[in-house]
Amino acid sequence: MVNALGSNSILANPHANVKVANLRTRILNSQLAPPCSLLLAPSSFHNFLMRIATRQAVRPMRLDDVSQVMEIERESFPTMWPPTAYKRELEQNSLAHYLAVVQRNDVAPAEPVFEEPEHHGGLGRLFGELRHILGSEEEHELPPPDERPELVTGVVGIWMLADDAHIVTIAVRESHRRRGIAELLLIRGIELTQSKSQALVTLECRVSNEPALALYDKYGFERVGLRPRYYSDNHEDAYVLTLNSVLTRRFLARFAELKTAHEDRWGRFDTEL
Ligand SMILES: CC(C)(COP(=O)(O)OP(=O)(O)OC[C@H]1O[C@@H](n2cnc3c(N)ncnc32)[C@H](O)[C@@H]1OP(=O)(O)O)[C@@H](O)C(=O)NCCC(=O)NCCS
Repeated sequence: MVNALGSNSILANPHANVKVANLRTRILNSQLAPPCSLLLAPSSFHNFLMRIATRQAVRPMRLDDVSQVMEIERESFPTMWPPTAYKRELEQNSLAHYLAVVQRNDVAPAEPVFEEPEHHGGLGRLFGELRHILGSEEEHELPPPDERPELVTGVVGIWMLADDAHIVTIAVRESHRRRGIAELLLIRGIELTQSKSQALVTLECRVSNEPALALYDKYGFERVGLRPRYYSDNHEDAYVLTLNSVLTRRFLARFAELKTAHEDRWGRFDTEL
């Protein structure tokens, strides 16, 4: 674990979405209050708070992340229906591996206690059943993002199939994009693939999705096919992309360079896999 002043603090990221005023009040009311001199220098104090307030980590997605991941899915894939049945994926799909990037907010209020929704009568039960089938039964009302002890900022899902590791989803919270989070998820996903001695990574991607295609290009994915009218919302085509060399010496050398460049640029994220 990197300590609270470690290099993976959101200081590495000037756009960090933390309400400093709230944090300031909370910290001043706690035993973490800094020396008075810092109180006289707002920018130093801001930096100090940023450093002690948050850390970022990548870890396996858990059941209690489902509501936050659904939030990311809704903003990332607004036309997607039905929504991903994350609970079923986590509990019943032994091929599936989901990783989440989280931003830890050490001064956020304690984890909220979620109450099971009440289902009134037959109609309520019917909706409950429907939500269960669609896998959204773990959705809860969430506190504002900056008040969550762990804010899930990105997720990747990979199915380890017999012949390939298939990326079924990768998405980053809108407010946290362009901070290296998807790249980190892809790096950890490729490492997971390597750890299973699997050489081939595959996925589908909308032909118009330039940000995602740029990410895959960066890591050497090749466009090996086209699935016409693959997406049911607008009948857009999908590229079939493959990275078929993740165990070769050549790829490992390039991969090491990319990982070093990522860490130099974005700092170190705790890895808890
Ligand atoms: C695609 C997506 C996952 C990228 O997440 P991100 O955390 O913002 O990406 P990163 O900051 O890690 O960027 C890594 C690389 O991706 C590419 N990239 C990411 N966003 C980009 C953008 N808006 N324009 C161009 N390239 C972009 C770049 O190559 C970038 O490397 P660089 O910083 O050296 O230029 C994010 O935009 C997203 O969640 N989109 C909606 C969901 C989605 O489309 N998922 C992909 C399904 S196939």
